[in-house]
Amino acid sequence: MHESDGEDEFLSCPLGPISDAGRKMGKQTSELSQQTPSNSLLKTRLVMKPVAYPNPQEAVVIAATEFLMEETMKKFDSSHDAHHVRRVRKTALSLAHSVEPKPDLLTVELAALLHDLLDKKYVPRSASADPFSHFFPFFKDLAEKTNGEIDLIGDGRAENISRIVENVSWTNERKLKAEGGWTEWHETCIELHCVQDADRLDAIGAFGIMRCAAYSAAVDRALHVSKSDPTWGDSAIHHFHDKLLLVRDRLKTPAGRRMGDRRHQFMLEFLSAVDEEYNAKP
Ligand SMILES: [Fe+2]
Ligand SMILES: [Fe+2]
Repeated sequence: MHESDGEDEFLSCPLGPISDAGRKMGKQTSELSQQTPSNSLLKTRLVMKPVAYPNPQEAVVIAATEFLMEETMKKFDSSHDAHHVRRVRKTALSLAHSVEPKPDLLTVELAALLHDLLDKKYVPRSASADPFSHFFPFFKDLAEKTNGEIDLIGDGRAENISRIVENVSWTNERKLKAEGGWTEWHETCIELHCVQDADRLDAIGAFGIMRCAAYSAAVDRALHVSKSDPTWGDSAIHHFHDKLLLVRDRLKTPAGRRMGDRRHQFMLEFLSAVDEEYNAKP
């Protein structure tokens, strides 16, 4: 019930189904602008109309990033698979369209696609420590693929994307705030906020519950133990109290907070059902 509301928000997103429709729009616009319409006013309008995001070169970059993402996420469990990343990408772009000033959509989309490739839960510290160096050859390759038209290293977006990847995680935010490492950039980077909110929204609500169970199974963690049990702190149910129930109040975009309210409510209903079933007397 709650998630269908979210889907409605996605359907009303100007991007529509992001990859296909957006790419088609870009293609149609560029094809149309090459034609010679008899009506000169129409021609002027077509030529002046900006090419919709993503333009053909951006589509090449997105497709290559999606391929890298799919190849990498194959190795992780279903709590952190390509489906999770695609949901995050979709929500991040939807949030990006809801905020002012408008963020750079390519930065948001690429950061969303790459955000979990170096997740510390899955890759060694040596690989996750420096996302910019890690992705540098990939960004370089993207510039070659687009004949230099999209040079993310040259225009500074590669550095920003890498910084978002490095800072998207909840644990990292908590650590930085505790250690005084939270900066003006963390506070104001709207592209970071869109990706962070989207990732956190997928950690709560119905999908969050499924993902918490899936990750617990992958690391062989108990789903539920009573609060008095000494292993409570290492159970899936503890994770709701330690993180998931706190997420709503840390969402940064207005639209993200609206989505978070519904998902938070659903988790509360789920947790009271868990208590009710656990304490049920025959
Ligand atoms: Fe992650
Ligand atoms: Fe994630």
